[in-house]
Amino acid sequence: MELKIIKTENKKAKPQGALGFGKYFSDHMFIMEYADGKWQNARIQPYQELHLQPSASVLHYAQGIFEGAKAFKTKDGKIRLFRLNDNLDRMNDSAERLCMPTFDKKFVYDAIKQLILIDEDWIPTDEGTALYIRPAMIATEPALGVHASKSYLMFVIVGPVGAYYAHGLAPVKLLVEEHYVRAAKGGTGGNKVIGNYAASMKAGENAQAKGYDQAMWLDAKYHRYVEEVGAMNIFFVMNGIVYTPALRGSILPGITRRSAIAILKSHGYKVRECNVDIRKVAEAAENGTLGEIFGTGTAAVISPVGLFGYKGKDYVVNGGNMGEISKMLYNELTGIQNGRLPDKHGWVDIIKE
Ligand code: PLP
Ligand code: COI
Repeated sequence: MELKIIKTENKKAKPQGALGFGKYFSDHMFIMEYADGKWQNARIQPYQELHLQPSASVLHYAQGIFEGAKAFKTKDGKIRLFRLNDNLDRMNDSAERLCMPTFDKKFVYDAIKQLILIDEDWIPTDEGTALYIRPAMIATEPALGVHASKSYLMFVIVGPVGAYYAHGLAPVKLLVEEHYVRAAKGGTGGNKVIGNYAASMKAGENAQAKGYDQAMWLDAKYHRYVEEVGAMNIFFVMNGIVYTPALRGSILPGITRRSAIAILKSHGYKVRECNVDIRKVAEAAENGTLGEIFGTGTAAVISPVGLFGYKGKDYVVNGGNMGEISKMLYNELTGIQNGRLPDKHGWVDIIKE
């Protein structure tokens, strides 16, 4: 398939001051359409509104998926893409799960690369910033019967971002959610599908109303084993061993999670992917064997957890401070991403030297 490129004649002003997360979008976007059984009309075009019928099935039945990746630019002008291939693999898995068409990964990868190079002046270079890449696919068939759509749009928008949480790297406060669940085995929790996020908002809002940043999810059956957090996977250091919930279908297989496990192992840490019982974590917090808790995610990077609330009680973690392992991971991950450290694992694609 050919990739058409239509450039804008009206470049937007760049944001000034703090970037926050997901508020600014660059001058161009990638888009292609699926109809008559194939992807077609692939183009990079000026960032613009989509035209959808009010009957488009994504608006009614949430047949939609997305991804999140990042590109980094250093002051010397080099541009690095982090593990985008893994995101596109996960997106094709999500597509399969929602009966949506898969796509040619190499074609989309190259299109994203071109989009980034066209909008390269949108990539911020300050410490802690990146160009966030948001691929998405939605069902567009104008039909209200519940069935897989026959037509789709896939698009990629990009924009400069800073820290995901409003207070930057300061440790976050999590409330363990004991009533609502995010996902059950057999559901869609292990895929990046849009409905997961709509279903998670109530617990997030409840947590925020009580002064926490986010909800920490427990398993749907026993309400006892930790799953993940709104936009990140989660790790616990107890007695010097690093624990993270095993992937059993209801947790998003995070690419940062996978990267963190590889970095930890390369530093000789013991990492266990298993059931993490929240009651054991609370016990460890009480008897002094809980070292650290941190979250991992593309947007969240490595986010230390300073406190968690469970059954009406608050447990302070590591004196409310970022721990040594979180710091090491943050430094090593961001170092690999921005070229400060060698890319020993082969995660980085330098798309501009
Ligand atoms: N869990 C959820 C629910 C997420 O939305 C994300 C973010 O993408 C993650 C975990 C972390 O995944 P990744 O490291 O691939 O960004
Ligand atoms: C990401 O980290 O890329 C995500 O997709 C999280 C998002 C829900 C903000």
